[in-house]
Amino acid sequence: MSILDRFSLRGKIALVTAGAGPQFGQSISEALVEAGATLITASRSLERNQEYAESLRSRGYDAHGLSVDIEDVDSINTLHDEVRRRFGRCDILVNSAISREGTKTGFELQTPEIWRHSAAGDFVGLFAICQKFVLSMAEQGGGSVINISSIYGVVSNDPSLYEGTTMRQAPTYNFIKAGMINYTRHIACYYGKQGVRANCISPGGFFNNQPEPFLKEYCRRVPVGRMLDNEDIKGAVVLLASDAGRYITGHNLMVDGGWTCQ
Ligand SMILES: NC(=O)c1ccc[n+]([C@@H]2O[C@H](COP(=O)([O-])OP(=O)(O)OC[C@H]3O[C@@H](n4cnc5c(N)ncnc54)[C@H](O)[C@@H]3O)[C@@H](O)[C@H]2O)c1
Repeated sequence: MSILDRFSLRGKIALVTAGAGPQFGQSISEALVEAGATLITASRSLERNQEYAESLRSRGYDAHGLSVDIEDVDSINTLHDEVRRRFGRCDILVNSAISREGTKTGFELQTPEIWRHSAAGDFVGLFAICQKFVLSMAEQGGGSVINISSIYGVVSNDPSLYEGTTMRQAPTYNFIKAGMINYTRHIACYYGKQGVRANCISPGGFFNNQPEPFLKEYCRRVPVGRMLDNEDIKGAVVLLASDAGRYITGHNLMVDGGWTCQ
């Protein structure tokens, strides 16, 4: 088999949480279908996921929309059972959803309530969805879990980056994303012998028409000189999802234009 064939995801079933999201969600979903996988995208709005799946089908890909609320373990269990019933298995799980409620305010305005809200989706929900799908993957003989962390799971934010804007960075985000990286390593260590690989991708900031002072400062500091766009994460997703990455597990792949290398 040639190396390019090893990147193929033909015949694989891939589930992406928040796979219809306009930033990373759609980039990840497109990467998977372009590489040949059958895609299932799920977040709270069934309609939104079905519409996005329909748009991919109209481009000739195999895609399906389901729903899940990562703050609700029953909903995670229902999604798992539905995926198994309709598709027979899940080979690739990408956790991209994030409950943004906990990440909207800076340190001084945060409350225990905000942390509890964040915990429901981004700690308990992440634990629960991984547990459910990893155990199924182990039973079926293998699979690949990809958790979307962030540069801010590895380093913290420089407050001067936000000067001249109303942007605030929440400490919950650093907590969630750092914990995710080591939780992923735990899965890699315990389930590798059953064929399950687990990795993180830690992207840098996605260009989203942020305020000019922030953009200028971000681009000045990042070695590649620009923010991330919707093509930049695709190669990392396919590498970690496919047989081309079969000896890569427990890794946190920085897709950050060099942000954390300096
Ligand atoms: N945007 C960035 O610059 C950036 C940088 C690094 C990492 N990331 C990470 O990438 C991932 C995607 O981020 P984004 O900025 O593309 O997404 P986003 O913040 O625009 O959207 C979050 C997504 O999560 C879904 N979601 C929210 N609460 C949910 C719930 N309770 N149940 C199910 N789904 C829920 C939403 O529907 C939405 O699609 C996140 O994990 C984020 O932390 C983003």
